[in-house]
Amino acid sequence: MDFLLADGGGWVVVIYLDNAASSWPKPPEVAAKMEECLREYGANPGRGSHALSMKASRVIFEARRKVAGLFGVKNPDNVIFTQNATEALNLGILGLLKPGDHAITTMLEHNSVRRPLEYVRRERGVELTYVQADERGRLLAESVRNAIRENTKLIVVTHGSNLTGTLLPVGEIGAIAKEHGVVLMVDVCQTAGVYPIDVEAMNIGMLAFTGHKGLYGPQGTGGLYLHPEVELEPLMHGGSGGYSELLEMPKTRPDRYEAGTRNTVGIAGLLAGISVVESKGLDKIREHEETLAYQLHQGLEAIGGVTVYGPPLSEPRVPIVSFTVEGYESHEVGFILDRNYGICVRSGLHCAPVAHETIGTVEQGVVRASVGLFNTEEDVKALLDAVAEIAG
Ligand SMILES: Cc1ncc(COP(=O)(O)O)c(C=O)c1O
Repeated sequence: MDFLLADGGGWVVVIYLDNAASSWPKPPEVAAKMEECLREYGANPGRGSHALSMKASRVIFEARRKVAGLFGVKNPDNVIFTQNATEALNLGILGLLKPGDHAITTMLEHNSVRRPLEYVRRERGVELTYVQADERGRLLAESVRNAIRENTKLIVVTHGSNLTGTLLPVGEIGAIAKEHGVVLMVDVCQTAGVYPIDVEAMNIGMLAFTGHKGLYGPQGTGGLYLHPEVELEPLMHGGSGGYSELLEMPKTRPDRYEAGTRNTVGIAGLLAGISVVESKGLDKIREHEETLAYQLHQGLEAIGGVTVYGPPLSEPRVPIVSFTVEGYESHEVGFILDRNYGICVRSGLHCAPVAHETIGTVEQGVVRASVGLFNTEEDVKALLDAVAEIAG
């Protein structure tokens, strides 16, 4: 679907294929609910007993319930709102790991997982093991089992790679984690709103999500589900609305991990975004996006000089297709697509340098096209025609 984008002096038509970075456009309901919050009740949630503060608190509670429902969380108080997935990942990793602990992660992780893990390795003497993936970005649950040691406290894996589109066997890894009494943390940035996720069935101890991708909320929203028996050191210390007499953060959730005023406007938008996802239905969204991603993958593979990365066509993938064009830096391809064809994709290294090492694209990076709710077959065709011209 073409969209008009206000660009300085005028309007230009764009085809947006960068939904893995941030979904766009947002459903109109999201902007409407954010505007309603700003205009009608945007007081401080949980910091007063007057009508507007109570209304703001109710909206945040409603959003917490919505997130809990989406991920099979029994008690919404175990959902902590953060400003993005990165903050949720830092809260979980820095809050759990202590000197002498061992953590396991994979070669496919985003820097939002890798950097906090490398930080606790450097600063706290936490031991860290990276589990290898093959050159298509696939990884066996058994290789996670083989990395477990006596002092392993945490396994952190992405559910879907933002580079290769690989879906990791989170259910199997969860069963292994449970067997060994290890906490499993899952980064669902690329799968929330598209794939079914159930923290109970998958034995997930911590789940980090972002609001601005497949949940169609605004940037500045995200959160962490925390299993009732997993305790963390808070990442931030400050006002939480209640228990003001205490010198430390309260013991109760979510207050313990939510220091400072929450992003009520953003959370109102996130609530609207998840409601849209629910009313469309995960199955329908997934079918739509997987169909377009399949067409993209198949079409790109048929163009001479184009290499597509990630799992083969016969295997499921999150709706992301990464590719390179022979003779071009990936940045050049991204630039030409933008300037000459009005197509928005991401190019370069995708915040996942070890994943690039794994698939052999550290030097040239990749061009990544990622589809969302509002993309159409015409968008796919436009990209394929453009790439064919560039490659030809
Ligand atoms: C797999 C993965 N993890 C983490 C993140 C970080 O998300 P945010 O920037 O919302 O914190 C992203 C975003 O690109 C991602 O794709």
